[in-house]
Amino acid sequence: MIGNNLLVSGHEDLSAPVTIGKLLRSAKGMIDHTDAHWLLQSVLNSNAAFLIAHAEQPLDAELVDHFQQLLARRVAGEPVAYLTGERGFYDLMFEVTPDVLIPRPETELLVELALSKISSVRQCRILDLGTGSGAIAVTLAKHRPNSCVTAVDLSTGALAVAKKNAKKHDVRNINFIEANWFSGVSGEKFDVIVANPPYIAEGDSHLQEGDLRFEPLGALVAQNNGLSCITSIIAQASGYLEPSGWLVLEHGYDQADACRELLEKAGFTHLFTRPDLAGVDRVTGGRYG
Ligand SMILES: C[S@@+](CC[C@H](N)C(=O)[O-])C[C@H]1O[C@@H](n2cnc3c(N)ncnc32)[C@H](O)[C@@H]1O
Repeated sequence: MIGNNLLVSGHEDLSAPVTIGKLLRSAKGMIDHTDAHWLLQSVLNSNAAFLIAHAEQPLDAELVDHFQQLLARRVAGEPVAYLTGERGFYDLMFEVTPDVLIPRPETELLVELALSKISSVRQCRILDLGTGSGAIAVTLAKHRPNSCVTAVDLSTGALAVAKKNAKKHDVRNINFIEANWFSGVSGEKFDVIVANPPYIAEGDSHLQEGDLRFEPLGALVAQNNGLSCITSIIAQASGYLEPSGWLVLEHGYDQADACRELLEKAGFTHLFTRPDLAGVDRVTGGRYG
């Protein structure tokens, strides 16, 4: 007998034995098919191939209950990544909690562009501002083992997650600082500075939609129509860059022009803007000196 059967869809009879296939079908119409697979993989600590190969395998009531609890939370809107506690980014799997922004595929573009500016031979110094889960910093450190990465965040909770992710991936060329943007690195110089800062305007209606409803506001929202963090970072960055150092920033879909203007005013040259996979201008950067 299954404990809490409240959520079971009318289309599937969940009387015992409850198999993997039956459980997945019971979620049909309630949540996305892929999400149901992610949740069950997490409950069974398995992978997609296992679910397919063992569709007829009966499950213990405890596991069924666990899945149904996650299903109920997903139906209520909680992000899959917070329910499973992880999200893939670039080529690594990152632990995530509600203390951090869930790493986004569009941020992989920022990583790619940053990697193109970081020598794989010479020892470079890299600064990641607003590291969150550490997705950018850990990925850069892993791909450029000769470099030294400094990862900054204002949030104690976020830094705890980022440190766990560095440990999980055995990344040692990284250090973490709890600080307000550059305040923790005064007097230091970097070859490349990257940031995916908060850039959504206060009161933006998207904040009431999807995963954003559950993510920390301090990771999402910036004043001055979403531009205050970007403005502050660009204004200070030149003081922390080596000659010919690069600043690379992720920004909102309509903020590329503003970023370029701010960079130009701050003395940056070689400006570039690149679109994400959806064709939206997403990353802008420039060189100082
Ligand atoms: C959009 S999230 C980016 C997280 C991660 N870098 C990523 O791309 O997935 C922005 C991060 O900036 C941090 N943050 C916000 N204001 C900050 C400040 N004044 N100084 C340092 N970090 C800040 C937030 O805590 C959050 O972790």
